[in-house]
Amino acid sequence: MAANETDQTLTNRQGQPILDNQNIKTVTNRGPSTLENYDFLEKISHFDRERVPERVVHGRGAGAHGFFQSYGKVGDDPISNYTRAKVFTNTEVQTPVFVRFSTVTHGTHSPETLRDPRGFAVKFYTEDGNWDLVGNNLKIFFIRDAMKFPDLIHAFKPDPVTNLQDPGRIFDFISQSPEATHMITFLFSPWGIPANYRQMQGSGVNTYKWVNAEGKAVLVKYHWEPLQGIKNLTQEVAEKIQAENFNHATEDLYNAIEEGNFPEWELYVQIIEDHEHPNLDFDPLDDTKLWYKDQFPWHKVGKMTLNKNPQNYFAEVEQAAFGTGVLVDGLEFSDDKMLQGRTFSYSDTQRHRVGANYLQLPINAPKKRVATNQRDGQMAYHVDTPPSHNPHINFEPSVEGLKEADRNGKPHEPEVSGKVVQAPIDRPNNFGQAGETYKRLSDWEKDELIKNLVSGIFEADQRVQKQMVDNLTQANEEYGRRVKEGLEKAAKGDPYKSSAVKEAQELSEPSSPY
Ligand code: HEM
Repeated sequence: MAANETDQTLTNRQGQPILDNQNIKTVTNRGPSTLENYDFLEKISHFDRERVPERVVHGRGAGAHGFFQSYGKVGDDPISNYTRAKVFTNTEVQTPVFVRFSTVTHGTHSPETLRDPRGFAVKFYTEDGNWDLVGNNLKIFFIRDAMKFPDLIHAFKPDPVTNLQDPGRIFDFISQSPEATHMITFLFSPWGIPANYRQMQGSGVNTYKWVNAEGKAVLVKYHWEPLQGIKNLTQEVAEKIQAENFNHATEDLYNAIEEGNFPEWELYVQIIEDHEHPNLDFDPLDDTKLWYKDQFPWHKVGKMTLNKNPQNYFAEVEQAAFGTGVLVDGLEFSDDKMLQGRTFSYSDTQRHRVGANYLQLPINAPKKRVATNQRDGQMAYHVDTPPSHNPHINFEPSVEGLKEADRNGKPHEPEVSGKVVQAPIDRPNNFGQAGETYKRLSDWEKDELIKNLVSGIFEADQRVQKQMVDNLTQANEEYGRRVKEGLEKAAKGDPYKSSAVKEAQELSEPSSPY
């Protein structure tokens, strides 16, 4: 061990020993202070810069390290029939991963008991470079077009005047966005408050492609199933937890890993042919829709284990940067319009939030060699080329420069033709699956859903209330009627109370509406 590794002496960032860390430098011990207080000024000005902008969404999160191992099969077929991605074809390798779970709407220190989708973002440090699967716990989303994302988020974030989150604003947007009816059916049921991060599912939500060595593509959806089981909370139980502990999910994850009780998820994929599927009553690229299990089977393709807590929250969890554009050979985008819009947003915000060189930070850098001609910028930490590379050559082509890689297989070259338009998709079918999901919920979940929706919608304008009842009725007659009756009772000062919602139901088995 080098001598300075055991030395406990406090230094400044220039490596100079600190002689007094209690008193600023002053003229006499009563002041005034002097400007050449180098150590004090360095300490306080670094402190002044300790926070970076929080994520514009998904501000509150918890993370952990682990690994993923592929089973190498899709049913009885070798997985290489569908994808050439080595993270799936190489069953010998344990691919390191970093996962960040999150809530969406509120800031970095908001309670973890709130009704909100939960983020489930996984960074795979594969032998071909990084792959990020940036998903949520729920399998669908509110909207299907990236153009609407900033409006959706504004409606859910606090009012710009009062700084209060307001169900009136949320339901104003939802009532005018009928495609969100399906998502709110999940969100206002107990599925909208997972009990913790370990006992929740994950999903890629958007549709991706797998490409095999022949360049042939299929459409895929990804799903994570927790081996710890699934547990959701009623509003009442969530409020009780929140009164005592607003960090319960972070604490649960951290303690489980510290105790060696490592959480695990199995990864499933649904695979369909890469075309428009005109026989379906919805567009398979529409992320407000489920691909039902009975029609599109789930194939178990691998397992992820989380076995190490971060050593430093800020360096690893806060500075982690995931993005839907971060794909490896054999994994591609589909034409899903949300996915394409999302993909610009992530690295754009990360250059602002973390900085131009965010990919040089250890949590974001791949675990394999990096060799680019990108140079400089704020906080450039090193040159990303191997030592064997001529350091003068930061361009390509060059007789001495870095060379383009060989292809691993035939490229996937989809053919696209048509007019450039701004237009909604055909087959929106905004209410069909929302009604079906309502039917598939168990009785206690339906009761919770109605109670939670009534208390939220009641805060909204009369026009919004009417439109919401209309939308829910189109989804399912009973669903709309029950919310309408609840609103009428609430208007008479008799808040809708569900007799069926009991505390013990926190422990009830969730339904499986998928
Ligand atoms: C985070 C944009 C849709 C899941 C973010 C961030 C942005 C963003 C700007 C902050 C990233 C950062 O600061 O590092 C968008 C846009 C969307 C969209 C523009 C639609 C057009 C979705 C959907 C999902 C999702 C559909 C679920 C599949 C996440 C997750 C995070 C995130 C999990 C947190 C990642 C982390 O833990 O660092 N999104 N998003 N987003 N988004 Fe999206």
